[in-house]
Amino acid sequence: MRRHRLTVNGEDHEVDAPDGEALLWVLREELGLTGPKYGCGVGVCGACVSLMDGRAVRPCVTAVEQAAGRRVTTVEGLSEDAGHPVQRAWLRLDVAQCGYCQPGQIMSTVALLAENPDPDDRDIDEALRDNVCRCGTYRRVREAVRLAAR
Ligand code: FES
Repeated sequence: MRRHRLTVNGEDHEVDAPDGEALLWVLREELGLTGPKYGCGVGVCGACVSLMDGRAVRPCVTAVEQAAGRRVTTVEGLSEDAGHPVQRAWLRLDVAQCGYCQPGQIMSTVALLAENPDPDDRDIDEALRDNVCRCGTYRRVREAVRLAAR
C-alpha cells in the first residue's frame, strides 16, 4: 500500500492503494466517481475511457501510479450541469439507449475534438472504433460528434 497524489477533475486527492492498482478502481471506489464504467477490465471495450492530460486513456489498464502528477478528467469533470458541448449534443440527439457505454463514448469524443475539431466520418469511426455499444447507438453517436464539432 502506498499513498498516491492525484489530481482528478481539478481537485487534489491523496489515496492509499497498492502500486499497480487499476486507476478505475481508485476513481470508482475511493473517489466515488462512477462515470467511468467497468466493462471488460482489459482495455478493449472503452466503457471506462477518461482523460489524462487531455488524452483518452483506459483507467482499467492504467496503474494508479501512472496518474501521479497528471490531470485526470472523468465524465463528471466535464461540467456540473451537462453543459459541455459534447454532453449537450448527446442530450439533444438523445444518443443513449441503456447508457452504460456513453461516458466512455463522450470522453473519447472530447479527446477526438481536442485534437481534431472538424473530424470527418472516417476520423470519428477511427477514434471511436474501440468504444463498444451493445445497444448499437453508433449512428447517433456519430451524429452527435458532428453536432458537437459545429
Ligand atoms: Fe476499461 Fe473495458 S473497462 S476498456
